[in-house]
Amino acid sequence: MVKFEQIKGFVFDLDGVIANTSAYHAQAWHQLADELDVTWTEDLGNQLKGVGRMDSLNLILKYGGKENDYTEDEKIKYAAEKNDNYLKLLESLDKSVILPGMGEFIKDIADHHYLISLASSSKNSPRVLEKLDLAKYFNERVDPVTLKHGKPDPEIYTRGAEILNLKPEECVGLEDAVAGVKAINGSGETSVGIGDPKILHEADINFNDTSEVTLENIKKAMDQMSDSIATD
Ligand code: G6P
Ligand code: MG
Repeated sequence: MVKFEQIKGFVFDLDGVIANTSAYHAQAWHQLADELDVTWTEDLGNQLKGVGRMDSLNLILKYGGKENDYTEDEKIKYAAEKNDNYLKLLESLDKSVILPGMGEFIKDIADHHYLISLASSSKNSPRVLEKLDLAKYFNERVDPVTLKHGKPDPEIYTRGAEILNLKPEECVGLEDAVAGVKAINGSGETSVGIGDPKILHEADINFNDTSEVTLENIKKAMDQMSDSIATD
């Protein structure tokens, strides 16, 4: 069991962890699902969280029983259309979409000399981080274009530690998505799930919302984890 004192770095998801942009992704997909005549549900929205652009489109088509209805070229066109919808929503983006406490948390870990990397599946993540004025805190970013597999595969979190020259055990990963928590767990990092603990029950540590994410609370949770294992 990893102790808090061994932690040297944090690997962040972006959408739904640092910023409320997951709602923008959902809105843009919802728009496309309507056009494709696939009924939008909360469950579908949850399945799409953290999942890359093409994989998301394929999930939507499968959900609507339309997985064989479109050619690859048509799918590329629809994925581009979703991205256009998303980029329109990003035009008005500013610091107000930073989720409660996350600006302070990121600054705090940087002040404490932890290393920080970004493990977002989004090709738009550099643009979003710049707009939020948070890019300066990130030592490194995994470019999702270079990955063989998307979340829930661990590759993105494995790389998130590697680019900081850290071992996975020396990192905490933060996620709002089931696919993302699975990816962190597979990489060997300590997983923090932010959101409904019933949905994110596979996470090592659960917080209901971002305002609870502090170094002190992460330390407390990791101390409790090692205590409970020691007394087992
Ligand atoms: C993130 C979001 C997903 C999004 C994916 C790809 O993981 O949580 O909702 O589909 O990135 O984003 P992109 O901006 O590249 O389409
Ligand atoms: Mg996310």
